Parts: sequence; C-alpha cells; structure tokens
Amino acid sequence: MMGQKSHDIASLTTKAVASIDTYQATQTEQTRQDALASAISLVRALETPADAIYKLFTSPAILMAVKTASDLNIFTILSDRTSPASWKELAGPKNADIQLVERIMRVLVCYDFASELGPGQYMPTDLSRKMTERKAIGTMDSLFIDFLPIIQKTPEFFQKSNYKNPGDPNGGPLQHAYNTTDSCWDWLAKNADALSRFNTFMEGGRDDTSHWADWFPVQERLLDRLSPDRPLLVDVGGGRGHDLEGFKQRFPVEAGKLVLEDLPSVIDDIQHLDGGIQRIKHSFFEPQPVQGARAYYFKHIMHDWSDYNCQVILRHITTAMERGFSKILIEDYIIPDQNARPKETLTDMIVMVWCPGIERTRQRWTELLESVGLRVIKFWLPHGYHKGIIEAELQ
Ligand SMILES: C[S@@+](CC[C@H](N)C(=O)[O-])C[C@H]1O[C@@H](n2cnc3c(N)ncnc32)[C@H](O)[C@@H]1O
Repeated sequence: MMGQKSHDIASLTTKAVASIDTYQATQTEQTRQDALASAISLVRALETPADAIYKLFTSPAILMAVKTASDLNIFTILSDRTSPASWKELAGPKNADIQLVERIMRVLVCYDFASELGPGQYMPTDLSRKMTERKAIGTMDSLFIDFLPIIQKTPEFFQKSNYKNPGDPNGGPLQHAYNTTDSCWDWLAKNADALSRFNTFMEGGRDDTSHWADWFPVQERLLDRLSPDRPLLVDVGGGRGHDLEGFKQRFPVEAGKLVLEDLPSVIDDIQHLDGGIQRIKHSFFEPQPVQGARAYYFKHIMHDWSDYNCQVILRHITTAMERGFSKILIEDYIIPDQNARPKETLTDMIVMVWCPGIERTRQRWTELLESVGLRVIKFWLPHGYHKGIIEAELQ
C-alpha cells in the first residue's frame, strides 16, 4: 500500500514540477491554474485522511483569526511597516491583550497573512496588504456576519425540507436561518449595514479577472452597430454601478448611453457614480423601461435565481429587445461538465444558501435561454477562467 502511495507521490511531484515550469515559461492564467491544480493534488496525496478531516475541523478558526485581526487594524498597521512590528505595537490601537495578539499572529503567519522575522517581529505580505482594501474587508465582513450563520443552519434546513433543491426566494436557507420570509434582497433592504457590506463585497468581485470590456470584443460586438438614439448598455441589477464605470473608463461613450438599473435601496446606497451614467430604480420582475438597447447586461444575476424566476426576468427583456439589433450579455460562471473547480462549485453553494440560486453548465444555460425564445450566439471565456459572457439574441 505504502509502495503505491510513494509511486503516486513521485508521479504527482513530476507532474507538479512540469506544470510549474510551464507556468513560469508562459505566465498565462490557464497554466497558472494548471500548476495550482497539480500542486493541490500533490498536497492532497501527502495528507492523510485524518489530516484532511482535522484541517476541515479547524479551518473556520482561520476565518475567525483573520476577521479578528482585521477588527484590530493589524493589517493596516502591518502594511505601513518597513521594519518589523511587535506584539505591543499591533495590540496598541485597540488596547488588546498582548497574549491574544500573539496567538492571532501565529495563525496569520501560518496562512501567509503576515511574515515572522523572529519571535514577535512581523512584516507585511501581499495578503496582509490585500486585507487593507475596502473591498476585501467588505467581503470578509459579509462572509463572517451575514453568510456564516446561514451556512451553519443549512444542513438543518435540508433535513426539514427533505433535501429538495432550493429555488424559492422566500423559503430557502437564509429564511430558515434568519426566521423570515423576506427574500435576501428585501432582507438586505431592511438591514442597512448588511446591505452596505454586501454591495462592497459585490464591488470586490471574486477574483482578479479583468473587467469584461478588456477581453470581450466590445468594438465589434457592440459599438460597430451603435444607434445614435438608443442606449448602448443597460446594466440590469448593476449594484452601485461599478461595472458601468469600468466600461466607461475603457470606452468613454457620451452621457445617457449607459444605464444602471437596480432596486431603490441599492440606487439610494450609491455614494459616487459618474454623472453620465443614467440611474433607474427598477425591479427586473417588472416590464423593462428601456426599449431597444444595444445590449442588456446581467452580471451575477441569473445565478441568483431558479430557472423559473430567470425566465420571468428574461421575458421582460426579450419584450424590450429589437430583433436583429439587441443582445443579452450574461456574465456568470459556466460550469465545466466534468471536474469543475472549487471556485465555481463553492460559489454554487454560496448562491444556493443566499438567494437561493444556481451556477449553470453550458447545457443548462442553453436550455434556459432557448426556453424564452433566445439563442446563444457564443460562450466567451477568457483563457483559463470558468466565468465568462454568454452572448444571446432573439431566435
Ligand atoms: C449578486 S448582486 C450583483 C450585482 C452586480 N451585477 C455585480 O455583479 O456586482 C445582485 C444584484 O441584483 C439586485 N437585485 C435583486 N433583486 C432585484 C430586482 N428585483 N430588480 C433589480 N435588481 C435586483 C441586487 O440589488 C444586487 O445588486
């Protein structure tokens, strides 16, 4: 048995080294992902099942330590340092117990959130600097305060609901955990702090993918057939408008061409937005107010809803579209049919507990769009990513 295991480790090591070499030579996202996947396979082979179970058991404590460090402003203090920071200095702003800081710092060092030059001598890492960014803090706070209580209660929700795939926006894991029948969006609208955390989390995105306008052929697919009297892009459920601002920075179109739509609570939560972007308070379950736009863009919207609800949302768009001119652009995960990676499979769990929503494969996207009279023109995927744009038009 050990012989087989050693053989596996040897071949996984060879594979990992080869894929890391390829990544270093090519520096592409695809080869980085491949190198990471083979390094993870090697780590898994080195772990015993008991290691793996205990790692799972202790992993929530990593989140707790990182969140506590963030609350103690440890990342801010560390990031400014050019010489090592001591426990006393890190404890200072919140007058924390030095021994508590010492214990938290040990965890941070284990997970590369800080580096340790000697006992009680800490320097920043890329991760500690990342944790000072407003969007990273919003993501951590949203997870810790709003998502974890739901995740903790979800197995109980399934026991009580006989393991049905959740799809009811008023009766999913969130409603079970928070004892409400409000949809997550109504619940957010009534909880201003949670809404602010969530919107900041949305602005942060979920990875370092560049803005879609950097890799989607905007000129050819949108701008070449722009109509002077029509909006170019309607961002439906666009949050605080960060995607449209990103678009405008890359393609500085005239005022009125870009339209942001979201619920009143979200539009009212906007603090800064380019004045040339039109804002509309609108529910996508109502008829679409902007007719015949060149494109209706949905980012991380469809994955929040069951097929039935997506059909309702999409029918309001198909009614507003002009055949042969208007498009729908959906930016979401496109789950591979086999061996999907943790990022999309775990995001599927997150949307399931929150909305409840679902991430879809190509087949499921195609079936959904065809069911409302649309046809997929192309699945656009930046190389190495499983999140892309589904371009669709009226059949
Ligand atoms: C997952 S967030 C995505 C936000 C943004 N598109 C992004 O990717 O950052 C979902 C968005 O849908 C909005 N939303 C939820 N229900 C809505 C409705 N009935 N009408 C319009 N927007 C809605 C939420 O307010 C939120 O901004």
